[in-house]
Amino acid sequence: MRILSGIQSSGKQHLGNYYGAIRQFVAMQDQGEALYFIANLHALTTVRDPEAAATLTRETAMAFLALGLDPARAILFRQSDIPEITELYWILGTVVPLSNLDRAHSYKDKIARGISADFGLFAYPVLMASDILLYGSDVVPVGRDQVQHIEFARDWATKFNVQYVPGYDPADPTGKVSGRPGILRLPEAVVQESTAVIPGIDGQKMSKSYSNTIDLFADDAEIKRRIMGIKTDSTPVEAPKPLDAPLYQLLRVVLPPAEFVEVDRAWRAGGTGYGDFKKRLLAGYHATFDPARARYRALEKDPAEVDRILRAGAERARAVAAPIISRVRAAVGIER
Ligand code: TYM
Repeated sequence: MRILSGIQSSGKQHLGNYYGAIRQFVAMQDQGEALYFIANLHALTTVRDPEAAATLTRETAMAFLALGLDPARAILFRQSDIPEITELYWILGTVVPLSNLDRAHSYKDKIARGISADFGLFAYPVLMASDILLYGSDVVPVGRDQVQHIEFARDWATKFNVQYVPGYDPADPTGKVSGRPGILRLPEAVVQESTAVIPGIDGQKMSKSYSNTIDLFADDAEIKRRIMGIKTDSTPVEAPKPLDAPLYQLLRVVLPPAEFVEVDRAWRAGGTGYGDFKKRLLAGYHATFDPARARYRALEKDPAEVDRILRAGAERARAVAAPIISRVRAAVGIER
């Protein structure tokens, strides 16, 4: 089984990225051939400062490593180190219907927020589909917000195969019956339902673009400020608290289950104020993430080692991609 996923280096990594994605990445690195990458080309749709783009790319790599990704088992690389990605992106784009891109959430959401669109943002799902299809990925672990992108990747892989693989039957994508498997393999999204959408401190989805994150590697004072700033309502101390509160959802994911049982009881019973629950969350955050935070600080002192890991990862990733891009080139007639 080939597992692939990526994270944009468009900002600091946060609890949503960990519980929605990185935790699954680490758990899955033993279940097959895992490829994980820093989507620093995607990040260019929002990060326009070259210094910041470079720094965030390295920081995202350090986050992966600090949180338990083992480069001896999983392949860790930078998207921009793989030139075949942009090649496939172009070729795949020739079979992508514009009407699909019009209804892509990433694009629609940004337009709705008044962010002016450019071609990069519009074409974002095509680059993402290429990320997935270039390595013949079987499964793609992601948070729920990415599922539409993976469905697009499946649809476009099918379109490509129908167009370019003689005898390809979309009802038989692996060619079991026809003996004509597609060149591009159809991936499956894997979403951990319990952590599919981690809320931010304002109750919307936690996101680098909404300034509502609790970061994984910010300094202690900032973490405290964020956690103490989680939005709560005016439920009195003695009353039971609402179960849809972002604070409750965060306690549920961050605290170890045994500890959460007790907090859950107090939450439903009333008699404890929001401030006390926030302190529990802060303590739980540190208990969970302090070991990774210490590893991150150590990696900060060794940028050459991080670069070495990324370069070695890129070489391995390109070797996985090579036979697939070669078949794509032959199929469309640019390599005969
Ligand atoms: P990105 O960088 O926004 O997020 C990385 C991963 O974290 C998950 N995630 C969340 N999960 C639960 N709750 C949240 N609040 C939350 N915020 C983020 C995301 O679902 C994602 O799994 N387009 C992708 C990056 C990408 C990619 C790929 C992913 C580029 N190419 C190919 C998979 C395969 C993105 O922007 O993720």
